[in-house]
Amino acid sequence: MERIEVKTQHEIKMNKVNQSRINEVDFNSLVFGRVFSDHMFTADFADGQWQNCEIQPFGNLSMHPASNVLHYGQAIFEGMKAFKYQDGTPVLFRLEEHAKRFNASARRLCMAEVPEELFCEAIEKIISLDRNWIPTFEGASLYIRPFLIGTDGYLGVKPSQTFKFIIFTCPVGPYYPKPVTLVTAEKYVRAVVGGVGEAKAAGNYAASLLPMREANNKGYDQVMWMDANEFKYIQEVGTMNLFFVIGDKVVTPAINGAILKGITRKSFIDILKDKGIPVEERDITIDEIVEAYKTGELKEIFGSGTAAVASHVSELTHKGYKMVLPPVEERRIGNMLKRELNDIRTGVVEDRFGWIKKL
Ligand SMILES: Cc1ncc(COP(=O)(O)O)c(C=O)c1O
Repeated sequence: MERIEVKTQHEIKMNKVNQSRINEVDFNSLVFGRVFSDHMFTADFADGQWQNCEIQPFGNLSMHPASNVLHYGQAIFEGMKAFKYQDGTPVLFRLEEHAKRFNASARRLCMAEVPEELFCEAIEKIISLDRNWIPTFEGASLYIRPFLIGTDGYLGVKPSQTFKFIIFTCPVGPYYPKPVTLVTAEKYVRAVVGGVGEAKAAGNYAASLLPMREANNKGYDQVMWMDANEFKYIQEVGTMNLFFVIGDKVVTPAINGAILKGITRKSFIDILKDKGIPVEERDITIDEIVEAYKTGELKEIFGSGTAAVASHVSELTHKGYKMVLPPVEERRIGNMLKRELNDIRTGVVEDRFGWIKKL
């Protein structure tokens, strides 16, 4: 299909709630993804343009039962966070990067792109409006979920011509992840070069549920995805990219068309370079990791992602061989990156990279 031409004119209507629900929320016991703030943004794509851009009370959607998204899965999403600086200013982290990745996903799934300025303006407006929903205690944030779905009520397998773009937000508490245990994939694959692994396509996550359940049943937290041809090259885990510290070098799998281009990953690489710590983006085989473990060179494995920033890996099992990583307190790189990124996001240290947008 030809790329859908998108006209960019838009005006965002405001339809505020009469009464905020914020007083009904216990901010001390927030469960991720279960509490939704007062407003959501919605826009429709039809006749080649974005229209009906509106901020309105959070609520249910009504849709045609034959909607493309419900049958053929034209659905993509993003995940990002708003924080508050200590002086109360709401801030967004790498907003434009998320807008760009969103549109890269849209292109891969033959969906209408959302003009970057509309994506950014909608997020800025909704966060400004619901700024009281950004929790202020340490480690907490307001999670932002933009998503796009195909809404044509037509059962033919073809790209939808109409779409709905929605953004809602959820206050989330501090995320103190336990170190995770991983098992390498031996049977299932997440993505193949040429597939949709580089897109944040909803279907990728549906496909990962069974492998994840089977891994959980065997006592592992998550699956370490391997390349789809040889099960030899390391890709990533559930919702995180991967980093390894081998000797004094940091290595991470190179982006190859099957791995999500994580924004935390990119930020970690920039911080490492800024600090003069050697970092390599390249193909990494599982054999290399097993070898580095056996020689005592494997110091750390951690995942990077918006949710946990950095999540330490305590154990990795490959074909029944369990590798136990050093204690978390001894992990120089993962702990440093996590602290550094959190400090930038909350204004504790200066944003020398230009990643923060103050509202
Ligand atoms: C499959 C996958 N890999 C990696 C990541 C980490 O990406 P980011 O750092 O942009 O959150 C995510 C989360 O968005 C993900 O879903």
